Amino acid sequence: ASASEEKDLIIIGGGVAGYVAAIKAGQEGMKVACIEKRGTLGGTCLNVGCIPSKSLLNNSHLYHQILHDSKHRGIEVGEVKLNLENFMKAKETAVTGLTKGVEFLLKKNGAEYIKGTGSFINENEIKVNLNDGGESVLRGKNILIATGSEATPFPGLEIDEKRVITSTGAIALQKVPETMTVIGGGIIGLEMASVWSRLGTKVTVVEFLGQIGGPGMDTEISKATQRILKKQGIEFKLNTKVVSGDTTGELVKLDIDAAKGGKPESIDSEVVLVAIGRRPYTQGLGLENIGLELDERGRVIIDSEYRTKIPHIRCIGDVTFGPMLAHKAEEEAVAVVEYIAKGHGHVNYGCIPSVMYTHPEVAWVGQSEQDLKSQNIPYKIGTFPFSANSRAKTNLDTDGLVKILADPETDRLLGAHIVGPGAGEMIAEATLALEYGASSEDIARTCHAHPTLSEAFKEAAMATHAKAIHF
Ligand code: FAD
Ligand code: NAI
Repeated sequence: ASASEEKDLIIIGGGVAGYVAAIKAGQEGMKVACIEKRGTLGGTCLNVGCIPSKSLLNNSHLYHQILHDSKHRGIEVGEVKLNLENFMKAKETAVTGLTKGVEFLLKKNGAEYIKGTGSFINENEIKVNLNDGGESVLRGKNILIATGSEATPFPGLEIDEKRVITSTGAIALQKVPETMTVIGGGIIGLEMASVWSRLGTKVTVVEFLGQIGGPGMDTEISKATQRILKKQGIEFKLNTKVVSGDTTGELVKLDIDAAKGGKPESIDSEVVLVAIGRRPYTQGLGLENIGLELDERGRVIIDSEYRTKIPHIRCIGDVTFGPMLAHKAEEEAVAVVEYIAKGHGHVNYGCIPSVMYTHPEVAWVGQSEQDLKSQNIPYKIGTFPFSANSRAKTNLDTDGLVKILADPETDRLLGAHIVGPGAGEMIAEATLALEYGASSEDIARTCHAHPTLSEAFKEAAMATHAKAIHF
């Protein structure tokens, strides 16, 4: 293989981090190539993450509503049947449409897309093992590592993506299992538990911590969410650790141990979902050839301008620091290209929203109450329940609340936490307010249309410094 012309930027990985950087670099007039081995662009998010999971979440919610939530709305339906094959096809249509769309965007912006596996030969050269066979060598003035993450395996439980699955198996099951145990009550665990429980599986979630949703979720919101999900039929075992698993029987057996001195027991289920987090992916990248080290969690070490210790090699997305979220990767992609092209870029890490797409959705931005407490930062709280919101009442969808945290002196917004219908859209308003340094009074004095769910957000803001009107 011989080195082709030198690129301004070579990107390894065509996930959200990589493909957005490729588009942005093309827009900046750079000669850019993006190497992706999967065969399609969009990475975890478009192929096996955000997008397919949201298709299943949306359509399973619809199915569940038709089955269990239509009669009291005055809608009587005949026989309702799930066609799992077509249910999965609807998901695939969404995925294919979006991955093809991204390929078009790269082309439109003059970014080259190379299907293959990239690895470092040295600090300026990347070898590509092409998917179609053969190899080529690219030279780059700048190189961006955007190789993403993979599911963290559970020691002693081999993943076959059929009986012992990660999220990748969970979005592609060919039959609705009778029973499923989910190891890990984080975001993946709860989203997938929702999908399969709505389709008829008896789901038990085993979580090591004392709360679901991961440590980032505000504890009060987490508790409210757990109550709502329990009402929907999902069972929870908190403060409980899975010790070991056995796949030799007809059912998968998990030995569990209550973390705080409870009795050991075992759970049998048809399918076990391992959802204990994700880890950075750098396998086969040849980092040893350029002497790049990883931190104790396998993350590529970078500075505030995304530079590794070799300054023209930068890194963004799931494979480095920060929350493993698609929109975080996207922000970094734009910023890193701006650093390369102009010397400055910007991402506000204090203002990255999180959304869990259960029903109702859970969304938050900024600091949680437990974050503030642990740092001895004073705060005041305003809350508003959706049961007092007119639109939620009209929709017969009143579970949840909005909680706002603000500085007691300046009234500046510190965090917003929502469990409720439409929370994932509503959090954009909170994010904008936080980014602009709004006070709770600024939000409360902003006119919100009636009747909308976002009036609950306005009223929670009002309750932070005065009294809500409707509660
Ligand atoms: P990735 O998307 O993992 O992309 C990296 C790409 O690099 C991969 O396609 C891989 O094939 C490729 N690659 C790796 N090594 C090489 C190599 N040597 N050569 C060539 N190519 C290589 N986030 C959200 O914000 N919202 C959600 O709703 C959401 N839902 C999710 C649901 C699930 C089930 C999962 C698993 C994740 C979800 N996420 C969600 C997280 C989101 O998918 C990730 O944060 C995002 O994909 C990170 O983008 P990335 O580009 O850094 O990495
Ligand atoms: P996570 O980190 O959110 O949750 C993992 C959970 O498993 C934690 O609550 C942890 O305490 C628990 N756990 C760990 N070991 C355990 C054990 N042995 N027994 C029982 N519980 C154990 O990770 P998750 O859910 O796998 O998701 C990975 C990443 O994907 C997240 O970082 C998230 O950002 C991203 N993602 C985002 C989505 C979204 O934005 N809607 C959707 C899905 C994933």
